[in-house]
Amino acid sequence: MPSIKDLIEKWLVSRNARMPSFEQDADDEFPDTAGEPEIEAARLAVIDDTSALQDLLLGPREVLARVWGGSLDNAAQQCIYHFNILQAIPLEGGATYAEISAKVGLAERKIKTLVRKAAINRMLREDVPDHVVHTAASALLVRNRSMMDYYGFFVEQMFPTSAKLAEALEKYQDSTAAEDTAFGLAFNTKETLFQFLEQRPELQARFAGAMEGVGKDPSQSQRHVITGYPWAELGEATVVDVGGSSGFMSVELAQAYPNLILVVEDYKKNIEQGAAQLPPELTSRVKFVPHNFFDPQPVVGAEVYILRHICHDWSAENSVKIIRQIVTAMKPGSKILLVEIVVSPSDRPMSSIAERIRDLNMVQLLNAQERSESEWREIVSAADSHLELTRIITPHNSTDSIIEISFRQN
Ligand SMILES: C[S@@+](CC[C@H](N)C(=O)[O-])C[C@H]1O[C@@H](n2cnc3c(N)ncnc32)[C@H](O)[C@@H]1O
Repeated sequence: MPSIKDLIEKWLVSRNARMPSFEQDADDEFPDTAGEPEIEAARLAVIDDTSALQDLLLGPREVLARVWGGSLDNAAQQCIYHFNILQAIPLEGGATYAEISAKVGLAERKIKTLVRKAAINRMLREDVPDHVVHTAASALLVRNRSMMDYYGFFVEQMFPTSAKLAEALEKYQDSTAAEDTAFGLAFNTKETLFQFLEQRPELQARFAGAMEGVGKDPSQSQRHVITGYPWAELGEATVVDVGGSSGFMSVELAQAYPNLILVVEDYKKNIEQGAAQLPPELTSRVKFVPHNFFDPQPVVGAEVYILRHICHDWSAENSVKIIRQIVTAMKPGSKILLVEIVVSPSDRPMSSIAERIRDLNMVQLLNAQERSESEWREIVSAADSHLELTRIITPHNSTDSIIEISFRQN
């Protein structure tokens, strides 16, 4: 009987795929296992089992030390981002610590400490003593703007926020207000994250880039939305992307389905950024409209209103308010699609990492949470009696599900 490793290797060879590696020319992600349940199950089993094996071989004392040391991983990453250390190392040939120091204005010894910490996570490495080269992970950040934005948002905004979580939970207890957050304490603001960003265009543009980066994470990729719903069957249809940021998902939908007209709604500056970068061939089919989703929906009678990663940012009460503002614009047959995690208990800890990160992140940034199917159903029935949750589609390999809600004339 072939080992799991043989099975996966054979599959990679049969697809002519490149072997995974840590070298900087490696593929950005493991090849898509769509339609290959045996391979995907094998991959997940290896990930979970090797992680458990590693923890057994370390023993509980060292596992605890590793968990506590995680904050230092983030501290090192924050400094690497802050001092632009990745950009100071050429993709071709690398650089010595002395050369990096001359470029970024930080002492050689300090850079060495930061880089050596990052290298444990296989981000940068010393190919020979005192000479640093990129790895697959660090090269991906340098080459890809949205991944760099994603990285920047994590280390500069989420990391300081995390340090305030216990204080926020103590202070705000059962509050569900979006202003009562660890983020607010960390950044000394009474605004919500989104209000804060709207006042700071550079940070807002980076956040939009970060969301684009999230949209490329294999488990929460926006391609699950593009391929996971029967868009072609809608015929000529208008799709409103509520809270669509700079429109990256709508652009991909428009490119894949010529039958669709897309309307992207968000805060004004996100909308302006999206309109400015729209490919010219899509200007007749992708529109940008500034809109606050707590106000009545301005696009009346669209076939679909899609909210990707929106309601998980808000309490149940606010999610109900957001959905109600759409109901006023719906016609019989219109659908609301919520693209969200539907939380279910998992016996595979490593496979639910993305879900666990997002859940805690929603708590600390926005005093919100990811939800189970029954919690989503409660929100839908509280929003309006004309609404019915008609199906939940969970695309292969996707952390997100597409929750379809239909409007029925009673
Ligand atoms: C988590 S992001 C999701 C963005 C995008 N839908 C995606 O799939 O990545 C939430 C989005 O909601 C937008 N947003 C927050 N509050 C809003 C409001 N009151 N009205 C309109 N958009 C809002 C933010 O600017 C941001 O683009």
